[in-house]
Amino acid sequence: MTAAEYRVVVVAHDPERDRTSAQLLAARHPRAAIRCLDTGTLRLEAGAGVAWSTTGSEPLEADALIVRRFSPLASAQAQFELLELLERQGTLVVNSTRALSLSESKLQTTAALAQAGIPVPPTLVTHDVDDARAAVSEFGRAVLKPLYGELGEGVERVEEDVDPELLAERLEAHGVLYVQQYLPNDGTDVRAFVVGNRVVAAMRRVAAPGEWRSNIHQGGVGQPVELPPATEQLAVRAAEALGLDYSGVDLIEGPAGPVVVECNGTPGWLELKSATGCDIAAAIVEHVVDRLDRR
Ligand SMILES: Nc1ncnc2c1ncn2[C@@H]1O[C@H](COP(=O)(O)OP(=O)(O)O)[C@@H](O)[C@H]1O
Ligand SMILES: [Mg+2]
Repeated sequence: MTAAEYRVVVVAHDPERDRTSAQLLAARHPRAAIRCLDTGTLRLEAGAGVAWSTTGSEPLEADALIVRRFSPLASAQAQFELLELLERQGTLVVNSTRALSLSESKLQTTAALAQAGIPVPPTLVTHDVDDARAAVSEFGRAVLKPLYGELGEGVERVEEDVDPELLAERLEAHGVLYVQQYLPNDGTDVRAFVVGNRVVAAMRRVAAPGEWRSNIHQGGVGQPVELPPATEQLAVRAAEALGLDYSGVDLIEGPAGPVVVECNGTPGWLELKSATGCDIAAAIVEHVVDRLDRR
């Protein structure tokens, strides 16, 4: 058996418990050797140049990194910076640190999408409660979101007559107010999973009874859906606008067509995989090998 051409490393913490990382590690590709790295064990020695290893002093040998999860036991900032450095030194990082940083922030995501001409819900980011209040009454019904949230956590719906006290509390908690028009929908949204320049799988997420957010984490259920080509193209353009190699793109089908709500840079896919049967991990590994080939 010949040695694999590419060394692909999955950045993960405790892959035994993180099933998406486990699926990447179990993916088989004839030209890639796939192993795991806990970035909480990364070491860098600077002297005559820089040398990389892990705490066990194993040298770090990687052509590409697939970033899934940092160690919660170490500084996220330090792990991110180490990845930035590896990337600058020529390691392919998927998703790239720049794309991860943009997609992490709802402010950056919404702005980048809007600048790329992609339809987003009308959104105001402000430090002023009165300003936010005026936007909510203009929107009629609005959604407040923490800039760095996920899984639907902290995403809340407010009505036209929102209490300014509540806005002041959120401003205090989040440091800034992100106010978005609520897009009327039937309690469902679309999760399109983009890998490279195509949608590999998509599902309609149906919110749990009594819930308006359709996140799986909030009890939503996925149903496979065939998207119209224009919606697929929109999801691909959205991922591209943020520089994401792969992404879970959330869309709401508004009265004027599909609107992009967010693009996730480290999306999960367990529900999507069971709803559609698509082997997402294999698609991501294939894409990474493809990018290494094109270097
Ligand atoms: N502007 C909006 N109008 C209607 N529903 C929304 C809007 N924004 C978010 N939602 C609902 O809330 C869910 C979570 O919002 P999202 O922006 O994707 O945050 P998170 O990163 O927490 O998933 C969405 O999947 C959708 O069901
Ligand atoms: Mg979401």
